Amino acid sequence: MELEQVLVKRVSTRKYNAQVPSDEIIQKIINAALLAPIVRFHKLHLSVVTNKEAMNLAEDAAEKIFGAPDAPVKMPKPYLYNAPVWIILSGKIHNEAENPNAKLMNDNLFWNVGSIIENMELQATALGVSSCGINTTVVAMRNSPKVKKVVGIPEGYDALASVVIGYTDSPLPERTVKPELIPVTFVK
Ligand SMILES: Cc1cc2nc3c(=O)[nH]c(=O)nc-3n(C[C@H](O)[C@H](O)[C@H](O)COP(=O)(O)O)c2cc1C
Repeated sequence: MELEQVLVKRVSTRKYNAQVPSDEIIQKIINAALLAPIVRFHKLHLSVVTNKEAMNLAEDAAEKIFGAPDAPVKMPKPYLYNAPVWIILSGKIHNEAENPNAKLMNDNLFWNVGSIIENMELQATALGVSSCGINTTVVAMRNSPKVKKVVGIPEGYDALASVVIGYTDSPLPERTVKPELIPVTFVK
C-alpha cells in the first residue's frame, strides 16, 4: 500500500473480531516500532500481550478510574475493545531527584513514544490490520503494580503508551485532511 493510502486508512478502530494476527504480522509491527526515530539514551520496553487474564485485569483497573462518577472522561467499553493483541510501550521516566534535566529528558522521551506508537499503527494499516491507541489502561497502570507485573513491565519502568491491534468486520472510513485540526504558519 502506498504511504498516502496508509495515512488515510489508519483509523482508530474500536470493534474487533476474534481473528488473531499471526506471529509474523506481529513481528512486522514490532519491527516498525524499532525502526521509529528513537533517541538512544532512553530505557524502553515493549510488551506484546495476548493473555486474556492479563487484559481483563487491566480492564478492571481502568474501570476503577473511567467507570467512576468523577471519571476524567467517559470512554467506550471494553477499554481494549476485545482486540486480540495489546502492545504496551513502557520506559524509565526521568526523575528530578536523580537528574536535574529530568523535564527536558522526559519531553524528549515522550516524542519518542509518539513516533514508536505511530510507526506501529501505520505498519498495521499497511498490513490490513486495524489498531487503536489506548491510554485508559495505561493510566490505570499507574496505581496498579499488579497489572504492570502481569503484562511484563520491567521493574522501575512505567507504562507510557499502548496500542491494540486486530481485525474488524466493521466498514472503515477513509479519513480526510481537516485543516482546522492544526493551524499552520508558513514562514517563507
Ligand atoms: C495519546 C492518545 C491516547 C489515546 N487513547 C485512547 C483510548 O484510551 N481509547 C480510545 O478509544 N482511543 C484512544 N485514542 C485514539 C483517539 O481517540 C483517536 O486517535 C482520535 O479520536 C482521532 O481518531 P483517528 O485516530 O481515527 O484519526 C488515543 C489516541 C492518542 C493519540
